[in-house]
Amino acid sequence: MNHTVFNPLTLPNGTILPNRLAKAAMEENMAATAHLPGEHICQLYHTWAAGGTGLLITGNVMVDHRAMTGPGGIVLEENTPIAPFKAWAKAGTQNGTKMWMQINHPGRQVYAAMGGQVLSPSDIALDMGKHSQLFATPSPMTEAEIRELIQRFVCTATRAVEAGFNGIQIHAAHGYLISQFLSPLTNKRTDQWGGSLDNRARLLYQIVDAIKQRLPKHIAVAVKLNSADFQRGGFDANDALVVVKALGHLNVDLVELSGGSYESPAMQGNTADGRTLEREAYFLKFAKEIAKQAPMPIMTTGGIMRLPVAQKVLDEGVDMVGIGRALAFSPDLPNRWKTSPDFSAFLPNIKWKDKTLVALASLAITKRQLQRMGKGKAPKSNSSPVISLIADRMRLKKLTKIYRTRYAHK
Ligand SMILES: Cc1cc2nc3c(=O)[nH]c(=O)nc-3n(C[C@H](O)[C@H](O)[C@H](O)COP(=O)(O)O)c2cc1C
Repeated sequence: MNHTVFNPLTLPNGTILPNRLAKAAMEENMAATAHLPGEHICQLYHTWAAGGTGLLITGNVMVDHRAMTGPGGIVLEENTPIAPFKAWAKAGTQNGTKMWMQINHPGRQVYAAMGGQVLSPSDIALDMGKHSQLFATPSPMTEAEIRELIQRFVCTATRAVEAGFNGIQIHAAHGYLISQFLSPLTNKRTDQWGGSLDNRARLLYQIVDAIKQRLPKHIAVAVKLNSADFQRGGFDANDALVVVKALGHLNVDLVELSGGSYESPAMQGNTADGRTLEREAYFLKFAKEIAKQAPMPIMTTGGIMRLPVAQKVLDEGVDMVGIGRALAFSPDLPNRWKTSPDFSAFLPNIKWKDKTLVALASLAITKRQLQRMGKGKAPKSNSSPVISLIADRMRLKKLTKIYRTRYAHK
């Protein structure tokens, strides 16, 4: 029987997701003081939990305050106060909504202006053409740093459960640290953490295994993985299938398939190797092939804004539909689709020549809506990309300065 997006989904660990629509992770950069969730982010998740999405996955939460994807990010470490995270989990789990915390380490994708630690499997800096100077060259991780990192992922996951989150998603996509280990373009190691795919995936497997062993069975453990890097010689669709099968042996409950990195922003519909993606549901072609052989449910995210497309994802054999930007512009999209199946959400469509600026403006315009909702205002689909980009740069500059002086090297 074919399912509709409004049917529940039972995961391997017994978790029942109320429907097949998930809010994909979107970094909010809305931390209150000291990298903690505050009133605004709680208000934002309260709004989403009222909008009918069955599963809310948080924007990435850092496992180490010395390495941040951006300023204003949230960090959960051993000594972080738990009360703000309890309030956040409470806000996002209303109306039976499930809320999972996405946990991440950026590796080399740290803006040079931020400072802090820039680690990677090897010392290969990002190639962003004329924007390359935005990023520093990373230091290859030592064995001790890799061991510490695994413990940090476990610690953040354990504390998220203590705060009341229903699951964890490990971010192994988009060119962040775990994805840097997976890709032969960024992992040139010759020890047990590099070389064969098995070795490059060892870090991911060890993190998943350690987390699975520590968390109670009713807590879902998911992984966000690239279906491909979309760079010549990178992690590809065959690699993704092998990794998904291995994650099945580790009892992973859901794999979300996305793609790309800062160098190749496929997750926004643009690839560096020139390969074309589906116009809507960018990674469906890959996800449906992987879903045929995957031992766990598969979700795919990217470019979905209409109900017929969301339904097509399920009809092609993929189990869950991940939605990011459309839920920033229409936080009640699932509820709206129930009464207006023809309703199409808005996605920014910026047509500038400089692809890096397009990616940054698209992020900025989306984050502006998150900030509006955090203040109890409705999103605005006619926000100007230029003004949003400038406002975002100014805001981030201010937050970066605070981070550099207070936290980066402590
Ligand atoms: C503002 C913004 C922040 C994002 N932050 C994250 C993140 O923290 N973790 C992640 O896995 N993906 C992140 N993404 C990517 C989304 O999860 C998603 O993969 C991408 O936006 C494509 O889906 P969409 O077309 O439905 O937006 C972000 C996207 C946006 C627009």
